[in-house]
Amino acid sequence: MAHTPEELVALDKKYVWHHLTQHKGFEPAIYVKGEGMRVTDIAGKTYLDAVSGGVWTVNVGYGRKEIVDAVAKQMLEFNYFANGIGNIPTIEFSEKLISKMPGMSRVYISNSGSEANEKAFKIVRQIGQLKHNGKKTGILYRDRDYHGTTIGTLSACGQFERRVQYGPFAPGFYSFPDCDVYRSKFGPCADLGVKMARQMEEAILNIGPDELGGVIVETMTAGGGILVPPDGYYETMREICDKYGLLMIFDEVVCGVGRTGKWFGYQYWNVQPDIVTMAKGVASGYAPISCTVTTEKVFEDFLGDPSDHDAYFRDISTFGGCTSGPAAALVNMEIIEREHLLDNCVAMGSYLLDGFKELKEKHAIIGDVRGRGLFAGIEIVKDRATKEPIAEPIANAMVGAAKAHGVLIGKTSRSFREFNNTLTLCPALIATKSDIEEIVSGIDKAFYDVEKKFGL
Ligand SMILES: Cc1ncc(COP(=O)(O)O)c(C=O)c1O
Repeated sequence: MAHTPEELVALDKKYVWHHLTQHKGFEPAIYVKGEGMRVTDIAGKTYLDAVSGGVWTVNVGYGRKEIVDAVAKQMLEFNYFANGIGNIPTIEFSEKLISKMPGMSRVYISNSGSEANEKAFKIVRQIGQLKHNGKKTGILYRDRDYHGTTIGTLSACGQFERRVQYGPFAPGFYSFPDCDVYRSKFGPCADLGVKMARQMEEAILNIGPDELGGVIVETMTAGGGILVPPDGYYETMREICDKYGLLMIFDEVVCGVGRTGKWFGYQYWNVQPDIVTMAKGVASGYAPISCTVTTEKVFEDFLGDPSDHDAYFRDISTFGGCTSGPAAALVNMEIIEREHLLDNCVAMGSYLLDGFKELKEKHAIIGDVRGRGLFAGIEIVKDRATKEPIAEPIANAMVGAAKAHGVLIGKTSRSFREFNNTLTLCPALIATKSDIEEIVSGIDKAFYDVEKKFGL
């Protein structure tokens, strides 16, 4: 190492601007090594990473030489040419991806989740121009969902704290209510999914179906609190979209490529999307890549008269031509298949949730535990009866206490002022029973520490 650890910390403080961070008084942590489920910091302390790189990304775990070798080989062979030209990794990855997405047919590659969603918005807007005489360009989004950091995706953001101070936003985006079962105004009922989805229909009727061309949802809301919609929700939403002519866009930036125990989260419901976006787990963070995947029907809307200057998808992405992303993504999928990681995700996900249910018996401040596969959350409340959220500093202290016990966990963070009270977990899909036990035990100890510290 050219610099000592102390020098690196000093240089980080001097030169690096970290995301979502108030730098006044900030002490950076620096990680230097990842192996399997574990990361090691610059002081040599190792942690069990229960957040796959912080934001649901390193799904197949750290240190995958097979992916690194495939990327290195591809880089030497042919690293880049702009996306108007074909390349072998993109072709082979696209074929494999589509084989896991019945009913879908075209893959458009870019670099980040935000960008993938921007493409989806542009597709909706352009179809409005090409097919609906300039109508139906508006997009519905759901409260508590997040779709990215650009001004376009922030215009479709259901999380107040992510939006604040960044307006004015793009016109043509409209919200509808969330799918939070724990706090649902409908209470427990057999047709909860249908009732919740009908709230979207109400929004459509208020805004006017002619204005709207699509709806975007996080299949399962991630950073907004680990919200898994009830049965019947997406089937009803699909019927409503068909009735009013809206394209259904599933943002699978978090859920996509295995996180919830199926290739895609929407595959838990009997629903056919029009557009699916994905990013984080696509190449497990070994290379940046995101995809906007559409049906053939959507693609065909852009098969216009070749002499028409406007009748094709006029989007461009410089780094959509990098071959590293698809090369890594292809091997990532092969690993998931060969190691049966979807099955493992389902089994370990239910073991994790069982562990959380036991924690709920012990700790009165746990209001709810929920999730699907290795996508899980613990909502902390001041009072179980009123469901009043715990104060944010207490939730923050939980993250710090778990880290002190060697387990990295996350929480809804800088998303809302009122609901930054859910601990979020997304261990890599390779997690074993003993990893899960270590995670649950670390969180258990953290609860005891925090309860003691705050006199709860
Ligand atoms: C559901 C969802 N969509 C989109 C994004 C944006 O992805 P990116 O940060 O790669 O632009 C995120 C990022 O956290 C996300 O969680």
